[in-house]
Amino acid sequence: MRTIVLQVHPEAPEAEAIARAAEMIQRGGLVAFPTETVYGLGANALDPRALARIFEAKGRPPHNPLIVHVTDVEAAQTLVAAWPETAARLAARYWPGPLTLVLPRRALIPDIVTAGGPTVAVRVPRHPVALALLRASGVPIAAPSANRSARLSPTRAEHVLRSLNGRIEMLLDGGPTAGGLESTVLSLAADPPQLLRPGPVSPSEIEAVIGPVERLAPSHRDEQTPLPSPGMMARHYAPRAPLVCMEGATPSQHRRCEERVEALRRSGRRVGWLRWARPTEQSPRPDLLIVDMPEDPRAYAAQLYAALHTLDEAGVECIVAEMPPDTEAWLAVRDRLRRASTP
Ligand code: TXA
Ligand code: MG
Repeated sequence: MRTIVLQVHPEAPEAEAIARAAEMIQRGGLVAFPTETVYGLGANALDPRALARIFEAKGRPPHNPLIVHVTDVEAAQTLVAAWPETAARLAARYWPGPLTLVLPRRALIPDIVTAGGPTVAVRVPRHPVALALLRASGVPIAAPSANRSARLSPTRAEHVLRSLNGRIEMLLDGGPTAGGLESTVLSLAADPPQLLRPGPVSPSEIEAVIGPVERLAPSHRDEQTPLPSPGMMARHYAPRAPLVCMEGATPSQHRRCEERVEALRRSGRRVGWLRWARPTEQSPRPDLLIVDMPEDPRAYAAQLYAALHTLDEAGVECIVAEMPPDTEAWLAVRDRLRRASTP
């Protein structure tokens, strides 16, 4: 299969390209498109055969359910069996935007979307291309991130092509995505609500709207307890090269990172260093590739996957990721770095 790539303006997508993509969705095809977080791989959320092709194209395990994207609150309500006050308040504040709500499902949603479970994840994306595609197709669109399963999420069209070229019908190329990390996933089917995946909307922002939320610590991800969300699997969002996380917030921690990088380099490996906030002059070296990451959490999030894709492309053999501070502003970034690491 040849993947058709259509360039679209990220703010004002061309009607013709959107119409072609919408027709493809209606015919049961797979269309990758930009959202404000990462690129999604979309299919008609009510068409089990199209949905099965998402799992096939991604190599995604069938026990991992999909997020359903819709145009607005009314469309979301047609998919869920309950719309609590908490959902109404969060949607009013954060939709369209990078917040996914898990709610009891209605029967019309195919089992393959929910992995057979009693709940469905829904969100209204903010990206003009995603919204235009949803409106033109007239159906809810299930879309996981547009990457092979367990690998890095794509924040640019070329990342999508790298892993899915020839496996999907179409790609809407709307340039780099602004957010860079996947949406926050919150279960409102649990009491109190549970944060299933940290993301651009922080737990305190959610708590300011609906009160206390249970924050599942990474330590909950032990092998015995069944996962409330399959995407909580410890190793996920990973680059090809093994990655180690090291704390880097203080000068002495930074020095330890530097020593580790040096030691790996001296052992003869090509090292990638995701360096944080302390750029110093370094002469270029063929066996060391440094990517300096921004000091600001939002800017860091926007660049993280692109930086890891760059290190993978450069063929480094190991990556040292210098971790920013352990504070709420960095929650989502630290979560993704940990999951990109090799235990
Ligand atoms: O930003 C995003 O959310 C992107 C864009 C494309 O919207 N999508 C995305 O999808 O990251 P995906 O499939 O890569 O991640 C979906 C996450 C997974 O962790 C999955 O386990 C969880 O949402 N999830 C989906 N449905 C669920 C459900 N019913 N209950 C619990 N977790 C669910
Ligand atoms: Mg994903």
